Amino acid sequence: MKTKGIILAGGKGTRLYPMTNIFSKQLQPVYDKPMIYYPLSTLMLAGIREVLLISTPEDTPNYQKLLGDGSQFGIYIEYKIQDSPGGLPQAFIIGEQFIGDSQVCLILGDNLFYGKLDFLRDGIANNHGGTIFAYHVDNPTEYGVVEFDHNHKVLSIEEKPVVPKSKYAIPGLYIFNSKVAAYSRELKPSMRGEIEITDLHKHYLRDNELDVVTIGRGVAWLDTGTPQSLLEAGVFIQTIEKRQGTKIACLEEIALQQDFIDLDSYQKLIGSLPECDYKNYCKKIINEFNR
Ligand code: G1P
Repeated sequence: MKTKGIILAGGKGTRLYPMTNIFSKQLQPVYDKPMIYYPLSTLMLAGIREVLLISTPEDTPNYQKLLGDGSQFGIYIEYKIQDSPGGLPQAFIIGEQFIGDSQVCLILGDNLFYGKLDFLRDGIANNHGGTIFAYHVDNPTEYGVVEFDHNHKVLSIEEKPVVPKSKYAIPGLYIFNSKVAAYSRELKPSMRGEIEITDLHKHYLRDNELDVVTIGRGVAWLDTGTPQSLLEAGVFIQTIEKRQGTKIACLEEIALQQDFIDLDSYQKLIGSLPECDYKNYCKKIINEFNR
């Protein structure tokens, strides 16, 4: 079954004002690259090569300028506009044609994952209806929250509960079969006037078609919603990159590693980059690749 990817990079990012007054949250830097590089790298590392990027009317041209049609990375990126923020499942309605009869992996443009992504690759390979993930956090009230029993059977799913029934938040990374667009159309807006992704989860749950997979503590899921969490995410990335001498979410490197482009195209691609540390890193990869 083919899997396509959607990145939703909408919203006003008001909690990051004034930074987001000019351009969108998902274009803000997380240490040494724009935030959007990280979710795109997650999809690429999961083997996804067809991506729909959805953003606001003002910001979509900036993403196009940044990432183009994706061919430089051996992938295909299409763009669609979300006129106004009406809830996450709108991504599936906007992307209905793009999804077609494939299954789809949606990642929110501000969700950063670091670590072994086997949980995602396995989720994609084993998905029947819908697969969502559960991650232990200290502050579940800010997220969708899932509660299980001892046998990992889902007892409840709630959106930003005031009194959470568990410490397991649902990250902004979801896999659904092609029915998702039709199901999204049936959703009614919540109290905050948006259709909610957690209502979509409940739909799959009712139909006995929802898998919830726990992501272990060896994987980092980072938040970037406030100036503090954005800075913390940047420091995290810097710490790992400095220690290892590697880069996280270097799209050129991932394209080569994943065999999306050959060494020749890679060399041409980095030849076109301006002189900077990022280019030096990309050059260093060639030597290691040749070894
Ligand atoms: C959204 C979802 C929530 C999920 C979160 C992950 O919340 O509604 O269920 O846990 O993304 O980042 P938002 O913070 O976009 O309102």
